[in-house]
Amino acid sequence: MRILETASYVPARVVTNDELSQLMDTSDEWITTRTGIKQRHISQGETTSDLAVNVANQLLAKAGLAAEQVALIVVATMSPDSYTPSTAAIVQGQIGATKAVAFDLSAACSGFVYALHTVERLLNPGQRALVIGSEVLSKLIDWQDRTTAVLFGDGAGGVLVEQETTGPSHVLGEHLATFGDQADQLSAGQTTPLTSFPGPVTKVAPFTMNGRAVYRFATHEVPTSIRLAAQQAGVTIGDIDAFLLHQANARIIDQVAKRLQLDRQRFPVNISEYGNTSAASEPILFAEEVQKGHLRRGDLVALSGFGGGLTVGTLILRY
Ligand code: ACO
Repeated sequence: MRILETASYVPARVVTNDELSQLMDTSDEWITTRTGIKQRHISQGETTSDLAVNVANQLLAKAGLAAEQVALIVVATMSPDSYTPSTAAIVQGQIGATKAVAFDLSAACSGFVYALHTVERLLNPGQRALVIGSEVLSKLIDWQDRTTAVLFGDGAGGVLVEQETTGPSHVLGEHLATFGDQADQLSAGQTTPLTSFPGPVTKVAPFTMNGRAVYRFATHEVPTSIRLAAQQAGVTIGDIDAFLLHQANARIIDQVAKRLQLDRQRFPVNISEYGNTSAASEPILFAEEVQKGHLRRGDLVALSGFGGGLTVGTLILRY
């Protein structure tokens, strides 16, 4: 499988750290030094599927393809429009991809890597897929809770991929792992009560997170995952041109680079502008790095996600 096109889209409304400081007891200084975040984009009525449709249409336009030429649409999201229909089905309907099978994939901030891994196994030679990470996390945030509200943002990014008809896959190695015994370290959207019969309709709870536990998890498991994926790919980590990590916290990325004893310059970061956009963060970064000319055809790229589940996943590919 190879990546044909990349694209991203974020809502226009920007909320700065200073603006959040007027809503809760926090400061630009605290948020910047602890996370690297300066601002985030917040949806004003646009849904997760709206953002994903924008990305899907950009990908098709860039490739000069009609929607009917897509066989599969997978949207990685932890903030779908609804339990059913899936966000991917809404995208399929809105863009008119009548021949595509569509479903969502739920693996929080590892969702984009999990989705690429899944799509690679489902596509027949010559078939194409839209793989999109899209999130409206702002609807799952308690805007009085400074421990989570300052971290997240809304956005979408995605890739158009095609399965090779000849030659080897551009995906060279993968490693995925799930740690369900740590499920309660991060949750969002938990329903209360768990069943409603014969009571009131269920309500959805906002983000709760044990930030320190997730930080420890990420700084230990991401370097391991990258090493194992590189081993499977038959490359050394020194061969990899760019490490596109989930943008949760700039300090986590610093720490991962340090543990791998690699130059931090090889880990692009855009968290200052978007905050943590969960499954959307890696495809947004990927699209930006391509657009800036920092990523070129033939480059060896490591995509690595981590987060709710807890989950971790790395994919090594030749762009
Ligand atoms: N502004 C000001 N003060 C704050 C804020 C805030 N926004 N939030 C917390 N504080 C305070 C706390 O109350 C605490 O005060 P106290 O010492 O008086 O009790 C103090 O700051 C330190 O709080 P900590 O939580 O210990 O701060 P820490 O340095 O650990 O940073 C953070 C918190 C940024 C959340 C960090 O732990 C982190 O990044 N963890 C990883 C999160 C992550 O990666 N999530 C990704 C997964 S997301 C997904 O899967 C969807």
